[in-house]
Amino acid sequence: MAKVNKNIVLLRVLLVSFVVIIPTLHAAVDNFVPLDGYWKQRAVEARKASLEAYDPHPEEITSDLNFHVNKVLTGSNNTRRNLKKNTGPCRATNPIDRCWRCDPNWAKNRKKLADCVLGFGRNTVGGKYGPYYVVTDSSDDDLVNPKPGTLRYAVTQDGPLWIIFERSMIIRLHEELIMTSNKTIDARGANVRIVYGAGITLQFVQNVIIHNIHIHNIYAGSGGLIRDAMNHVGIRTPSDGDGISIFGSSNIWIDHVSMSQCQDGLIDAIMGSTAITISNCHFTNHNEVMLFGASDSFSGDEIMQITVAFNHFGRGLVQRMPRCRWGFVHVINNDYTHWLMYAIGGSSHPTIISQGNRFIAPPNLAAKEVTKRDYASESEWSNWTWRSDGDLMMNGAFFVQSGTEFDKKPFSRLDVIKSRPGTYVKRLTRFSGTLSCKPGLPC
Ligand SMILES: *[C@@H]1O[C@H](CO)[C@@H](O)[C@H](O)[C@H]1NC(C)=O
Ligand SMILES: *[C@@H]1O[C@H](CO)[C@@H](O)[C@H](O)[C@H]1NC(C)=O
Ligand SMILES: *[C@@H]1O[C@H](CO)[C@@H](O)[C@H](O)[C@H]1NC(C)=O
Repeated sequence: MAKVNKNIVLLRVLLVSFVVIIPTLHAAVDNFVPLDGYWKQRAVEARKASLEAYDPHPEEITSDLNFHVNKVLTGSNNTRRNLKKNTGPCRATNPIDRCWRCDPNWAKNRKKLADCVLGFGRNTVGGKYGPYYVVTDSSDDDLVNPKPGTLRYAVTQDGPLWIIFERSMIIRLHEELIMTSNKTIDARGANVRIVYGAGITLQFVQNVIIHNIHIHNIYAGSGGLIRDAMNHVGIRTPSDGDGISIFGSSNIWIDHVSMSQCQDGLIDAIMGSTAITISNCHFTNHNEVMLFGASDSFSGDEIMQITVAFNHFGRGLVQRMPRCRWGFVHVINNDYTHWLMYAIGGSSHPTIISQGNRFIAPPNLAAKEVTKRDYASESEWSNWTWRSDGDLMMNGAFFVQSGTEFDKKPFSRLDVIKSRPGTYVKRLTRFSGTLSCKPGLPC
């Protein structure tokens, strides 16, 4: 289990009591001082947004993504000529990339990106309906009154913003960067690294895109007074040291991000977060890569729906790619070239649909199994829906399936639109991680 900080414990009390018995809400919360009225309100609104973002027909979303992958790969434009480095008009190999990377004027049409997300995060538009904000200053010296021009200033503004960067920069966050809703962080055209400090926190927010940044060597912050919105400054307990922590948030899209070496997880999605797509990322050198759901007692994560697509899980990774609880996770067309313990795991009967991935097992004979179930005997987990379809198994890798619902509705629809098999993964994930895009040229 991940380190669960004090905030999580008290928020669990808040959310569970809110969902179960509303009259106990105040009593429960009043025992825990740090959740001020502002955050109580945000928690209630976020839960409502998560429930609205939850899709009662997840099989339609998984099918839709398979449909788009097939369309790109069978389309007449997908010739060898197009895929040739530098000379072809467009090197994009998967449907998310194909939507924007071929446009030489991407720098003038940045917001087109917001139309490109697929999977459970498909309604995420980030700052599409707001102005641009250009980050010009890499410093992070004032956590309470961030200097205009800094990333912290940008992400705490009211209203939608599409945040871009004047130049390449290294940003060392002194404490966690607490984002507000309706924001895009878009570092295309610059090399932006968030390193050697705290990570990014998406707490009780909706509608955020994080695109084309490096996040590595992230450490736990010590907490303290931090501005988290234009009209609010709050006291934070120490942060866990996650690269990106998604907490009670919905409609989140993380695309083309390169991540490694964070003190806790690279990406954690917990406390009723849902409608999330994590795509085209490159993960390396890390133990606990992704945690979806932090608690076996928080059934509020049953609404969690996450797509993990076209990512490369690369060298130096150990486990949790991802580790899931309660929710529905679609793991599609990812390249798993390295793991030391296992790739995909979970507890509390999550649904895991693994399609068209490539799993290359490590040499260790004891670590060939892709899957790992925790805290459950086989008689318990045998009815969890964990399905492998079209996955390419290499070097002795094997996926232990479970679930009695395979051939019944709703998953029979998976057979209507076939996934692209794992043999295509190398092509689909070839440009994972950050891209170096130049204005005036296809990216
Ligand atoms: C192929 O390219 C043309 C022009 O660039 C475009 O109109 C068409 O939709 C593309 N077809 C596919 C299947 O992507
Ligand atoms: C985000 O944008 C949506 C759509 O414009 C709006 O309804 C919502 O209130 C915004 N959220 C915040 C916190 O500003
Ligand atoms: C799974 O099995 C457990 C007992 O082993 C049972 O309580 C539960 O209802 C089953 N769930 C489904 C979806 O069949």
